[in-house]
Amino acid sequence: MFQSTTTHHILTRFLISNSRSYILVTLIQIIDMAVRGSFSSRAGFILAAAGSAVGLGNIWKFPFEVGLGGGAAFVVMYLGFAFILCFPVMVTEIAIGRKTGKNPIGAFGALGYAKWSIVGKIGTFAGMLILSYYNVIAGWALGYLVEMLMGNFDIGNNFSAFTTNMVKVVFYTVTFMSITSYVVGKGVAGGIEKVAKILMPTLIIMIVSLAAYAFTLPHAMKGLEFYLIPEFDEITAATVGGALRQAFFSLSLGMGTMIAYGSYLSKKENIVTATALVTLTDVIIAFIAGLMIFPFVAFNNGGDMNNLVSGPGLLFVNLPGAFESMGPTVGVVVGSFFFLLIAFAALTSTVSLLEVPVCYVVDEMKIIRSKAVWYVSGIIYIIGIPSLLGFGVSDFFTNSIVLPASTDFLSFAASIADTLLLFGGFCIVTFAAYVWKKENLVEEIKNGYEDYEGSIAHKFLNITISYICPVLLATLFIIVVLSHFFGISLI
Ligand code: PHE
Repeated sequence: MFQSTTTHHILTRFLISNSRSYILVTLIQIIDMAVRGSFSSRAGFILAAAGSAVGLGNIWKFPFEVGLGGGAAFVVMYLGFAFILCFPVMVTEIAIGRKTGKNPIGAFGALGYAKWSIVGKIGTFAGMLILSYYNVIAGWALGYLVEMLMGNFDIGNNFSAFTTNMVKVVFYTVTFMSITSYVVGKGVAGGIEKVAKILMPTLIIMIVSLAAYAFTLPHAMKGLEFYLIPEFDEITAATVGGALRQAFFSLSLGMGTMIAYGSYLSKKENIVTATALVTLTDVIIAFIAGLMIFPFVAFNNGGDMNNLVSGPGLLFVNLPGAFESMGPTVGVVVGSFFFLLIAFAALTSTVSLLEVPVCYVVDEMKIIRSKAVWYVSGIIYIIGIPSLLGFGVSDFFTNSIVLPASTDFLSFAASIADTLLLFGGFCIVTFAAYVWKKENLVEEIKNGYEDYEGSIAHKFLNITISYICPVLLATLFIIVVLSHFFGISLI
């Protein structure tokens, strides 16, 4: 890195002093790309972006949001939002990233609108906040994996004893964060892409097998009914807002992850089909996660779906009992598989969350990646301490946040971050449509998709990005803020 930066300076000076050669400009760009890194293939990008999307959001959060939000009615809204609002935002983010080859803060400046970099700053902050608590839950999953391997199924009844055991919790969160930092430190192709290429296919095989097994359990149908039969009278402002926040979170939008990943994407690739594949993978995996979790929960509760432990504890409290009832050997295998699956899903997301601030530090502060990761992770770990203490260790961080939906710090941090994602999504599409201008967006999308102009995709994206997304996102953002933070329901 040091050498490359030096070469870069020498070449730039040479260029200025001779001020002639186009070839040199290209050379500098090639060196810049080599310094920043890039995805080595189309499949690598899609797997990494899908890896970012598929995470705790799908396996841990989606089921409990469905549980809180009235079952299948929530699922229907989530799917609608994913395709009508999130898909266009993702295309826009990737296009901005690829056009500029920059981190989410620098990208706005590179397009000539430095004032808009505030959107990137808010997004980067939101991402760091997400990672700070996400890492705590990923740490729990790692801890549960070890407990399952040891056959300690009783852990489900001792969830709070587990989350207040500081030695264990600190050990697991530090371990998880360190694995994330190690992967990001290895760079885009050598770390992020490599891990996604191994973990994503493994994860798909694991989740499909577990869901197939869950179908065979007693009371599975009761769980599926709860999950799949909509009760539309349960739709409230909180459910609508919850479904939208979930869609944004699950697709890693509104904070610049896709700008950062787009900045490593080759001009040859078709952004629209890549985005479609990432969106489909994410919603399909969330859907399958529900097909797996609800039969497990129903099995554990003897078919009674009325008194679910909802919220962050849903999996951690309900599932170990289900694994125990499967018998000692099957229980250990299924239980360990399950928590390993969660850890894998979480890792491909934590690397994408860490990549955003790291990419900023590398681009703008010119600090080498292998050092930048450790500085940034240290800061994130510190920001995460209140979340870590907010499950019983510190009474203050556990009980004193007064929000309609939660009292603990982790849920509070999650609410703030999720809401910022909606704001970010609104700003990004509005920026692309009215400041940077649609024609420029179209030009960028045409790289790798020559027939884009005039296509159905173009028409759909044109309407959504110019009108539907800005209007609906602004309206829903207000609805979410009022219902989530003030308990005022407009619907
Ligand atoms: N999409 C990830 C998940 O579902 C979380 C995430 C959000 C990752 C925002 C990156 C950016 O778990």
